[in-house]
Amino acid sequence: MLLRPRRNRQSSAIRSMVRETELTVGHLVQPLFLIPDPNGRLPVTSLPGTFRLGIEQVLKEVEECVALGLQSFMMFPAVPEEHKDKTGTYATAADNFYLEAARRIKEKFPDICLISDVALDPYSSDGHDGVVINGKIDNDETLPLLDAMSVAQAQAGFDLIGPSDMMDGRVGSIRRALDAAGYTDTGIMAYTAKYASAFYGPFRDALDSAPRALENVPTDKKTYQMDPANTREALREAALDAAEGADFLMVKPALNYLDIIYRLHAAHPLPIAAYHVSGECAMLLAAAERGWLDYQQAASEALLSIRRAGASAIITYFAKDFAKWNVR
Ligand code: PBG
Repeated sequence: MLLRPRRNRQSSAIRSMVRETELTVGHLVQPLFLIPDPNGRLPVTSLPGTFRLGIEQVLKEVEECVALGLQSFMMFPAVPEEHKDKTGTYATAADNFYLEAARRIKEKFPDICLISDVALDPYSSDGHDGVVINGKIDNDETLPLLDAMSVAQAQAGFDLIGPSDMMDGRVGSIRRALDAAGYTDTGIMAYTAKYASAFYGPFRDALDSAPRALENVPTDKKTYQMDPANTREALREAALDAAEGADFLMVKPALNYLDIIYRLHAAHPLPIAAYHVSGECAMLLAAAERGWLDYQQAASEALLSIRRAGASAIITYFAKDFAKWNVR
């Protein structure tokens, strides 16, 4: 036998030389769920190990993560019911606790990258990412609301704006609004190929943001999020977001959509972000809790596969644990 691939696997030193994919804490983004009570700490039952935190707790959490080498965070607000209405007015309210938290975080940790969430659902009494008018999720009436939300977030100090709403034309609309307000350096991490997925369950539990039962309005997000059956449509969305000024193209979820990550990475020179979503993390944690999988090994392998597919950045609830496993 002349050719023996095993020769290149026989020692850790050789395996290190031939390793093709690198996964470091620098690639990972830690999600944070924010609640109004400054010292609050509420578990997310469907995602063990993840908590909804008040600002004082978030500051501690970020400090711990930064000490472990993490530098990027994506924050979501759990908005109390009394602040929700049909157009999500609280999203830009002067006393909004999410915007205030961003200010506090960036004041204390100016070097981190803080990524926002732009969509109506955390603020919407209808639980949709866009405004519901006459039984429809109205695209064009939603855009100015998303623009205002983005400008308020840029003003609060977010480094990247994360439109997760899937309205048509929102990246360009937000880019123009940010530029007009002077925030030319605030980037956009566009949720480019966001699928109408079953894997967002624990996230919607955490924020109580699931679509509400409304007359003549579907309780799913299929009229704006993508059909899991489609690939070519993801390429179309990517071309639009790139042309509209996105700085990152995101694929979401990640593991069931590695082919989409691979395709976008091949088609566009923009960095690809992948959102390893709540349900994907929950599945693995549930199996690990039963002793069916080794958490550290399985989680590390899952994250590596997302990198291998072509993602630069990975948003994952495992970020902090991964950082702990890899402290030098
Ligand atoms: C909503 C939003 C969702 C997630 C991020 N932003 C849920 C949804 O679209 O219903 C899901 C993230 C996760 O499951 O971890 N704008």
